[in-house]
Amino acid sequence: MINKIHSLGGYIHEYQKSIANPRAFWGQQAECFYWRKRWDKVLDWNFDEPSIEWYVNGKLNITENIFERNLYTHGNQPAIIWEPNDPNDESRTLTYRELFEEVNRFANTLKRLGVVKGDRVALYMPMVPELAIAVLACARIGAIHSVVFAGFSANALQERINDASAKLLLTADGGFRGSKITPLKEIADEALETCPTIETVVVLKRTKSDVKMVVGRDIWWHKAVDGQSTECVAEEMDSEDPLFILYTSGSTGKPKGIVHSTAGYMVYSAYTFNNVFQYNAGDVFFCTADIGWITGHSYIVYGPLLTGAQTLMFEGIPTWPDAGRFWDIVAKYKVNQFYTAPTAIRALLAQGNDFLEGKKVDSLKVLGTVGEPINEEAWHWYHDHVGRNQCPIVDTWWQTETGGILISPVAGITPTKPSFATLPLPGVQPIIVNNEGKELTGNSVAGNLCIKYPWPGIARTLWGDHERFKQTYFSTYDKLYFTGDGAKRDEDGYYRILGRVDDVINVSGHRLGTAEIENAINEHPLVNESAVVGYPHAIKGQGVYAFVVCGELSTGGVDGIRKSIMQGVTKIIGPIARPDLVQIVPGLPKTRSGKIMRRILRKVAEGDVTNLGDTSTLLDEDVVESIIEGALVDVKR
Ligand code: PRX
Repeated sequence: MINKIHSLGGYIHEYQKSIANPRAFWGQQAECFYWRKRWDKVLDWNFDEPSIEWYVNGKLNITENIFERNLYTHGNQPAIIWEPNDPNDESRTLTYRELFEEVNRFANTLKRLGVVKGDRVALYMPMVPELAIAVLACARIGAIHSVVFAGFSANALQERINDASAKLLLTADGGFRGSKITPLKEIADEALETCPTIETVVVLKRTKSDVKMVVGRDIWWHKAVDGQSTECVAEEMDSEDPLFILYTSGSTGKPKGIVHSTAGYMVYSAYTFNNVFQYNAGDVFFCTADIGWITGHSYIVYGPLLTGAQTLMFEGIPTWPDAGRFWDIVAKYKVNQFYTAPTAIRALLAQGNDFLEGKKVDSLKVLGTVGEPINEEAWHWYHDHVGRNQCPIVDTWWQTETGGILISPVAGITPTKPSFATLPLPGVQPIIVNNEGKELTGNSVAGNLCIKYPWPGIARTLWGDHERFKQTYFSTYDKLYFTGDGAKRDEDGYYRILGRVDDVINVSGHRLGTAEIENAINEHPLVNESAVVGYPHAIKGQGVYAFVVCGELSTGGVDGIRKSIMQGVTKIIGPIARPDLVQIVPGLPKTRSGKIMRRILRKVAEGDVTNLGDTSTLLDEDVVESIIEGALVDVKR
C-alpha cells in the first residue's frame, strides 16, 4: 500500500524526512510497487545539463502495477465509471478485470498494426473509455502515447503529430460535447494531409457521423480489435523509458512536447493522488478534466488506477443539459472526491444556486481545484454551497511539467486559507527568488517560484529538443527549476500562486502562449503585426486581448476584420485560444530597440491607465495615446 499521511503531525514528520533524506524517502514510497528488477540507485541528478534519473536501472511496466498488482484484491471492483454526454444514454462501468482485458485486447491490436516499443501513438479522441483503454494499451507495449486535446484544430493536431513523428493515430468519427458534435475524423483528415509519418488511423464509432475512410490507411476500431486476444504480456520498461509526451504552450511560438518517464511518474502520480485527496477504498473519485490535459493523465487515469480506485470519467460539459449536470453526476454515483477548475466553479456560481439546490451531494468529502488561481468568491461558494461547509478544499498547484501536484493541502489535514495552495507536499522544495535569482528567505516574501530539488514526477526533457528544455526551465536561475509562476509566501509559510510571470496566459485553466496566438493572428493577410496579452475576465480568469496593426481594412470594416481574426485563431489553434477582444491599433508601443512594451498593453487591457510606469524608452508616445483612446471608444467589453 502507498504510504498515507493521517495527521498534521504526520505531514510535518514526512516532510522533514523527505527533505533530510530524499533518496530514502522516495525509495520507501516505491517499495509497494511491482518491479521486474529493483532499481540500483534511487536518484541521479544535476540541474545543469539537466539530467534527472529516478529508480536507476529499475525494470517494470506501469500497467502491471495497475492490473496484476491490483487484480487479486480489486479484480471485480469498478475501475472506470463512465458517464456519457447525454444523461439519458447508458453509462458504463469497467471493473479492473474487464479493463485489463480491454487494455490487453487493444495492446494486441496495436501490435498487429505494427506498433512496437518506443513508437509514438497520437490520440485525438472524445472522453470515452476507449481513450483510457488506448492510453494504457500503449503503456502495456511500451509505445509512447501523445494525447492531443480534442478541442484543438487540424493545424494544432498536425503540428503535434509531426513533432512526435507519430506512426499511428487513434480518433473517432466525432465527439459529443453538450448539444454539439465535434467532427473529429474530418479534422484529423485535414491534419493528416501533411503528416507523412502516420501509417494507420484507427477510428472509433461514437457519433455515427458519416465519415470518409481512406483505403489502406483507415480502419474501424471495432474491426481492428475483433478477434484479438485478451491476454498480452507487458513489455519490460526501464524506469527512465518515456511513458508519454504531452504538448503544452510556452512563451515562444511552438508547443513543447513534455516527456514523462515511467517509474518516477508512476510513484509520484500514485503518491500524490492518495495523499492529497485522502482517497479511501470504495470511494468514487471524479476529476472533471479532459484526458487531453495533464490533470486527466495523472488524476483520471494513472494516479487513481495505480491505487485501485474508482475513477469517474465524464464525456460531456458542465452546463448541458443544464448547469446542474455535475451535481446530478455527484448524486448518481455518490461521488466522494470532486476535482475541477476555478473557471468551471465561476461559471456555475454565475448561474446561481438553483441548479445546486435539492441535489443530493452529501456524499462529497473532499473538493479540489486546479489550473489557475482561485478567487475568494469562487472559493467560498465552492466551500459553503457545494461543500456545505463540510468539505476541505484542496487548491492544488502544479504543471504539465511537474507530472503531479507539488503544492497543496492534504485534504482534511492541512488547515486551508482561501486562494492559498498552502504547503509543499513531501519531497517538494520550493524557493522564491527575486529577478536576479537571489533567494528570498523567511516569510512574507513574493517573487519567482522555483524548485531546488527534483521530485520523481518532474519532466525529463522536451521531445527532440533537450536544449530548449534546459533553456526554458533551468537557465533562468542557476541550479533551479523555474516554474514560470510568481508566488508569495505569507507569514505562516503558506504559498499563494500569483500567476504567470512569463508570456503565458491562463484562459479558463488552459495554458496559452501569447506568441502562439500572435503567430496565428499574423497569418491573416491584412495583419502586419500583433501583440496579445491577458486581462482579468470574470469567468475565464483571464481573457485574450489582441492589439493588431493592419495594413488596410477589408470591406467589412473594423468589425469584419475583428471577426475574421477571431475565426483565424480558432482555425489555427482551436476555440480555446480565440481572442475575446481585438483592438485595431495604428502601431504597437515599442522601445527604441524595437521591443514591444507589453507592460503598457497589459495596463490598457486591464482598463487601468492611470499609472503606466516609466515610458521614457518609448519610440513614439503618440501610439500609446491612440491605443488608450481606442481602448475606450472601440473595444466593447
Ligand atoms: O500558472 C500555473 C497554473 O497553471 C500553470 C500550469 O498549467 P498546465 O501545465 O496547463 O497545468 C495545469 C494543470 C496542472 C501553472 O504554471 N496553475 C495550476 N494550478 C494552479 C495554478 N495557478 C494557481 N493555483 C493553482 N492551483
